[in-house]
Amino acid sequence: MRKLYIAGNWKMNKTSSSAVKYAEELLKADIDKNVKVMVAPSFVCLADVCRVLKGSGIIVAAQNLNEHDSGAYTGEVSCEMLKDIGVNDVIIGHSERRLYYGETDSIVNLKIKKALSENMNVILCVGETLEQRESGLLEKVLHDQITIGLKDINPDDMKKITVAYEPVWAIGTGKTATPEDAQSAHAYIRSLIKNQFGSLVGDNTIIQYGGSVKPENVRALMDCEDIDGALVGGASLKIDQFLPIINVYK
Ligand code: PGA
Repeated sequence: MRKLYIAGNWKMNKTSSSAVKYAEELLKADIDKNVKVMVAPSFVCLADVCRVLKGSGIIVAAQNLNEHDSGAYTGEVSCEMLKDIGVNDVIIGHSERRLYYGETDSIVNLKIKKALSENMNVILCVGETLEQRESGLLEKVLHDQITIGLKDINPDDMKKITVAYEPVWAIGTGKTATPEDAQSAHAYIRSLIKNQFGSLVGDNTIIQYGGSVKPENVRALMDCEDIDGALVGGASLKIDQFLPIINVYK
């Protein structure tokens, strides 16, 4: 049985003080115990948010990491630095990283391997642009992002990987994929994982949907067979919007 996994990606929003205030409110909130919950603050807020949420069961994740151990990589953050402040989860390959910072599938693969080698859990983001979808490239894009992104990963390590399907045209635009379109992309991603790692791994892998998820549309998406959670950007920034998403079945 795949557990519902709702994650909030705060992107480049919130200061340490506003992040801590949010985390304190989340701690007090009435959250459905059957849901796995994560928030991903910016690097500078991570340590403070970890301190507040320690022992709560709410996961605190980084939005990125560097694929190297340490060294002359100005502006970058390593696994060791994250683990030292209690961060064991990371989002890798978000479309904003791919589009604005040139992260390729091969770099994504190196980052995932680094995270796994340090025993961290990963959310791997995949998804097509509008242009790719309209040119009939949806399956090819997802195929490459999954097969290259997860190349040479040990099937045993797949329990540490969540995949987030985030059509780029739906991120921050207010346009959500229809439940039918999202379900069909999720089913295809699951079939790719089954081909690469076997049926059991494919059946057990959590695949989140991301792209303008809101309290009003979350239920129809989560009701789809192959959608096991959500990666939420804009609507995760305000607790009164994030809570009803987490508590979609409560
Ligand atoms: P959005 O972002 O919910 O604001 O569309 C989703 C994401 O980028 O993870």
